[in-house]
Amino acid sequence: MGSETDNNGGPRHVAIIMDGNGRWAQARGRPRLFGHHAGARRVREIVEACPVSGVDYLTIFAFSTENWKRTQTEVAGLMGLFRRYITKEMQEFVRENVRVRFIGDRVRLDRKLIVLMDEAEELTKHCDGTNLTIALNYGGRDEVARATKRLAEDVAAGKLDPKDVDEETLPKYLDTCVLPDPDLVIRTSGEARISNFLLWQSAYAEYEFIDTLWPDFTSAEFKQLVASYGGRERRFGGVKS
Ligand code: FPP
Repeated sequence: MGSETDNNGGPRHVAIIMDGNGRWAQARGRPRLFGHHAGARRVREIVEACPVSGVDYLTIFAFSTENWKRTQTEVAGLMGLFRRYITKEMQEFVRENVRVRFIGDRVRLDRKLIVLMDEAEELTKHCDGTNLTIALNYGGRDEVARATKRLAEDVAAGKLDPKDVDEETLPKYLDTCVLPDPDLVIRTSGEARISNFLLWQSAYAEYEFIDTLWPDFTSAEFKQLVASYGGRERRFGGVKS
């Protein structure tokens, strides 16, 4: 399978804010982490739905720069879940030809997790099927700030002339520099917010805010959202031709 799919005007890059794990667990009288585990199991189903939906890039918001404010138990539980998830799922992603990447600031993540993230990227770097990007300790403003710092360093080092800085320049410094911009951003669980996700990259994206809690989100619903996108017209600020 090649990385470019003809998807008849459907979204090539879908980004998802996976929200509602906590409420899903609470509704069952279970701890929040129970919901995160259920949410993690959903990820594979959606990744597997990408090739048949013509989606080449899937980017998922797993942990935000704001999520550190949660209880120590929940944060530690999530970090443990990410470590186990990467350890357990990577061989399967290789078999399914899924290329895995991570975006976000790694500095605050624990050493073991960073090693696993590096290994996963290395192990799947030859895969040319679905591009799965996992946002971990990611915040859109933080990403733009880090990018700006690197850009400023290049200016200070004489590698970049400020006169040449335009809107094509900054994206080269973003964590997403090798990815196309998302065409469709989905948020589950009924909240209509973008919560600092892919701020720069989503300037022209379509948004779908749906009520389903993430652990209940199925491939059927994903395919339906992808198909309904195909019927829309995007003008990128221009007029209808
Ligand atoms: C938001 O639900 C979800 C998160 C902060 C974590 C997302 C993580 C996963 C789906 C699990 C694992 C992902 C991978 C890649 C292994 P919430 O806790 O804010 O839910 P609530 O709004 O109902 O409280």
